[in-house]
Amino acid sequence: MTTTLVTGANKGLGLETARRLVAAGHTVYVGSRDPERGRRAAAEIGARAIVVDVTDDASVTAASRTIEAEGGLDVLVNNAGIEGRGEGNSVIGAAEVTAGMMRELFETNVFGVVRVLHAFVPLLRRSAAPVVVNVSSGLASLTGTTDPTSPAHAYPGVAYPASKTAVNMITVQYAKAFPGMRVNAVEPGFTATDLNGNTGTQTVEEGAGIIVRMARIGRDGPTGGFFDAAGPVPW
Ligand SMILES: NC(=O)c1ccc[n+]([C@@H]2O[C@H](COP(=O)([O-])OP(=O)(O)OC[C@H]3O[C@@H](n4cnc5c(N)ncnc54)[C@H](OP(=O)(O)O)[C@@H]3O)[C@@H](O)[C@H]2O)c1
Repeated sequence: MTTTLVTGANKGLGLETARRLVAAGHTVYVGSRDPERGRRAAAEIGARAIVVDVTDDASVTAASRTIEAEGGLDVLVNNAGIEGRGEGNSVIGAAEVTAGMMRELFETNVFGVVRVLHAFVPLLRRSAAPVVVNVSSGLASLTGTTDPTSPAHAYPGVAYPASKTAVNMITVQYAKAFPGMRVNAVEPGFTATDLNGNTGTQTVEEGAGIIVRMARIGRDGPTGGFFDAAGPVPW
């Protein structure tokens, strides 16, 4: 039996990922910072609800203690994330971004990932086949961002892509530190969710595909990589 935690799973790509992993036979914890939203989402898909605010040490520690007491964890999907758009769903570019905006975004997207990893790695290390999936973004790719023919090049935001580039580095360093674990970053693709005011061009069913696939890899699967639906993504 595989036990999986998906953070930020009360809606969007996280909820769809959790739904598919329940269907694949995993025991799934729907992580949600809001207890009621989490309870509703978990009930909808036949999962367990757990309160996890990735910006809050006490919340993350309490969740790890509960999941440890209930039998441990095999798969961690670090999905919770924010893009931090401005007025009228506008992307905040270099002319407007402030250190405070960066800090707020990094608190969730970067420090949140480390906070959750720090609390759950001890549980994962006791699993026979531990897996971590960090939900990154194609906008994290320095190769894409500096290639005028890439869609990532056209995106003017600063904080969000920088936070996901940091997630990619964290992925690589954890993969090296824990060779017994499969630790990968994924790019779901531009997906219609609340994160982008539902402007994405894919459905959550399409976007969750690579998250689910990397959550289900076995001990012989890749580690320390960055993947989208088509295969490896350049860093
Ligand atoms: N949509 C895209 O085009 C796209 C593309 C590439 C990567 N991604 C990544 O995919 C992931 C999921 O995003 P999404 O598009 O599904 O967005 P979404 O529908 O807005 O979902 C984001 C989820 O993260 C949760 N969350 C935010 N802050 C949190 C915190 N402090 N603690 C715990 N949970 C928190 C949200 O909870 P609340 O409901 O409480 O706010 C929600 O459940 C993110 O990491 C995002 O960067 C998305």
